[in-house]
Amino acid sequence: MNIGFKSMTCSEVDALVVYLLEKKISTPNEELNKFIKALEERELFLGKKGELYSFTREKDSKLQTVILIGLGKEEELTLEELRTASGKGVKKCKELKLSSITLRIPDTEKIEKAEMAKAVVYGAKLANYKFDKYKTSKKEEKELNVSIGAHGVDDSVKKEIISAIEEGITIADGVIIARDLVNEPSNVIYPETLANEAVSVGAESGFQVEVYDVEKIKDLKMEAFYNVAKAAEKEPKFIVMRYFGDKDNKDNILGLVGKGLTYDSGGYSIKPTGSMVDMKSDMGGAASVIGAMSVIAKRKLKTNVVAVVAACENLIAGNAYKPGEIIGSMAGKTIEVVNTDAEGRLTLVDAVHYIIEKENAKEIIDVATLTGAALVALGETTTAILTNNQGFYNELKVASDYTGEKIWQLPAFEEYRKLIKSDIADLKNSGGRFAGTITAGLFIEEFVQNKPWLHLDIAGTSWASANSDYCIKGATGAPVSTLYQLVKNREDK
Ligand code: BES
Ligand code: MN
Ligand code: ZN
Repeated sequence: MNIGFKSMTCSEVDALVVYLLEKKISTPNEELNKFIKALEERELFLGKKGELYSFTREKDSKLQTVILIGLGKEEELTLEELRTASGKGVKKCKELKLSSITLRIPDTEKIEKAEMAKAVVYGAKLANYKFDKYKTSKKEEKELNVSIGAHGVDDSVKKEIISAIEEGITIADGVIIARDLVNEPSNVIYPETLANEAVSVGAESGFQVEVYDVEKIKDLKMEAFYNVAKAAEKEPKFIVMRYFGDKDNKDNILGLVGKGLTYDSGGYSIKPTGSMVDMKSDMGGAASVIGAMSVIAKRKLKTNVVAVVAACENLIAGNAYKPGEIIGSMAGKTIEVVNTDAEGRLTLVDAVHYIIEKENAKEIIDVATLTGAALVALGETTTAILTNNQGFYNELKVASDYTGEKIWQLPAFEEYRKLIKSDIADLKNSGGRFAGTITAGLFIEEFVQNKPWLHLDIAGTSWASANSDYCIKGATGAPVSTLYQLVKNREDK
């Protein structure tokens, strides 16, 4: 998909997508305006949220399809509505096999034009995403040429719009990196190939990547991680990604930790068949931190971020770890393994300890497809959060309100901590069925050494079971855009 900007004259394109506000539907183009008003009068198109009306007309002796999309009331307009509406428009154009399209942002002062353009670009690019590389017979699709149109913008606004479009493209590209990594099956993306992908994304985007092999993992005494990894024939990799965009403040380092189970069978606490099929996606956290790093680096944010991924498979073999074993960890704490399917937290705590001790991270955000309970509690559209620092949470909330990727905080009450205390070791790796998302998060908290910490359980949000306006079934790429936004917001301060 090619995307650019265009001051509006709407002739030469195949399709013109016009976003309109309810009770305020009008467009500066006289001819079109008359038509739209007539539709409104006859109540054929009112500009209500999600409404779509299309017709084809002759424009300069060529056929042009006009697609009207309703945004709802002006006072309720949000960036998310624009992303959604943009996705709808692009999908409709594809359905009608129209390949050169102009998406015209609405005439409103409610939101800055550049912000609207960014949202529209983001929705458009992601709505165009597909994962069909393994289909041997597929229909050839024409490449989409998209321009973002706006009426009556002066040169300075035009400049803002153009740079916002670039930013929107870069963010969407980061999301697509994550989606692709998650959608790839586990025979293609396993620890070594995931590490290779991180290396190539780093080279393209401008961050440094170092990959540790199994010997180094043992040297570092990452016992919890290694115990999960050791049954697999495909060796684990520990991936370290470093971006230093603020060299004057070298000690100011944000640490991102992504769960990187390239496959999770459950181990000896084996998963039922139905739960095992989608477990190639158990590296959604890793994919999202790789995607976020790419956006942060490409946008050259003045900040320092280190991201790590303990990548491995959770499989069964004669040398696998077993329920009832007591294992160590890089931090020295002992852990009773009551369930080998609660493996993610074991890999994460060594990664967290590493990023604090060896990379000097001052704050930690871990992102993990950690518990089915998160899916049960909040569904597929809201990420579950635990934190030890309300200010840090508020920052995430501001970012999430902006990006539209919803979050909800769960309580970290003292009582829950008791559930993961073991009778015979320091901790046990599962607190049982109740409050599963909370106890999983609190297990990780035991290793953050009181540093400001956010835990994002994306078991629900990293994978979609159905298509929506700018997301297809499968990997969503969440929460790449929110991670980027959090870091960017700090820079604006
Ligand atoms: N990777 C799973 C969590 C998961 C489930 C992600 C469904 C996406 C969709 C994780 O490793 C796991 O198995 N968690 C267990 C924890 C339990 C054993 C305490 C779970 O949720 O059942
Ligand atoms: Mn598991
Ligand atoms: Zn898992």
